[in-house]
Amino acid sequence: MGSLRELYPMPDIDKHWSVPQQFDATFDFEYDDGRTTLMHLYQKGKDMQWDAVNRIDWSLDLDEENPMQLPDEGIALKGSPIWEKMSEKDRIQFRRHAQSWNISQFMQGEQAALICASKIVQQVPDLDAKFYASTQVMDEARHVEAYKGLMQKFGVAYPMTQPLASLVDDALRDSRWDFTYLAMQVVIEGLALAAFGTIRDLAQNPLAKMVNAYVMEDEARHVAFGRLTLRDYYPELTQKERDEREEFLVEACYHMRDRFQAREVYETLDLPVAECIEWAENSEMNKLFRTLLFQRIVPVVKDIGLWGDKIQKAYTDMGVMHYADQDLDLLAKQDEEIAKDLDKVNHQDVRMAYVHAVAGQAE
Ligand SMILES: [Fe+2]
Ligand SMILES: [Fe+2]
Repeated sequence: MGSLRELYPMPDIDKHWSVPQQFDATFDFEYDDGRTTLMHLYQKGKDMQWDAVNRIDWSLDLDEENPMQLPDEGIALKGSPIWEKMSEKDRIQFRRHAQSWNISQFMQGEQAALICASKIVQQVPDLDAKFYASTQVMDEARHVEAYKGLMQKFGVAYPMTQPLASLVDDALRDSRWDFTYLAMQVVIEGLALAAFGTIRDLAQNPLAKMVNAYVMEDEARHVAFGRLTLRDYYPELTQKERDEREEFLVEACYHMRDRFQAREVYETLDLPVAECIEWAENSEMNKLFRTLLFQRIVPVVKDIGLWGDKIQKAYTDMGVMHYADQDLDLLAKQDEEIAKDLDKVNHQDVRMAYVHAVAGQAE
């Protein structure tokens, strides 16, 4: 594996991004037994570690014309005059870039999660939460590793898009530890879970399916981590402090819903940017997808007790209130089962390849 630097289509990308930090690193000398819920999650985090090198079959490739073999119906530009004018060759290039942009945002978001989780290890006051966050740090490193492998198969990669970067910046810069959880474990990982899910369930490409399913299995725990920690913490705050959190959430949700567009792809491919964005914004597919993205966020927000008028008004306006009573434990269980089923398929394929190879030698 090499560096991704050569894969970015735009030159002059900064090699590093630094976000200034000002917070106290806190020790917990009580060493108490910890909350049962969090210690249970920590045990699960330890038991379910996996290795991106061994669990994923890296001999598999992406498809030449449609890398992750996703239905074109998911392309927001489909049906637009821009799409109609494209030759088949242009469409092949568009699919590769658009899908790569998407996976790139996952990969860049995974690195952000790695850094946020390590901030939580230092800053959160209770040892049980530090324990869990440390397993998340390891999970996120593996996720970066897995998505990096996928990016190399694409042969093109994109930097972190500005709207995501600005929310990550908020998550890190705020000196209150729970804001890191709110931006990362609630909003970004909640959105990511829904977005990974569409690829896991719609992609026909086995490699893409596998990477997303395995990452999702862990992400469901990360979202649960945010939920369990914040659910205990928010009742201790004053109403004014909870209001501040609600305002932050409302803003972060609208921000991600409205600003997260593949602008860099349109620019790279010399497409009319404003026209593409406008078409994509108003496409039925996009409206559906943007609603779906909130499937995992809304029930968490309700559960942690930030369920005041402002939030409810915003979610009603966004048309996502019906997600409020989703059973998160059931969804997490399904994520784990799907990943396990893929293990069986994967190993069966490897076994079959072995059987064929052995049979070939015998001939
Ligand atoms: Fe992750
Ligand atoms: Fe995560």
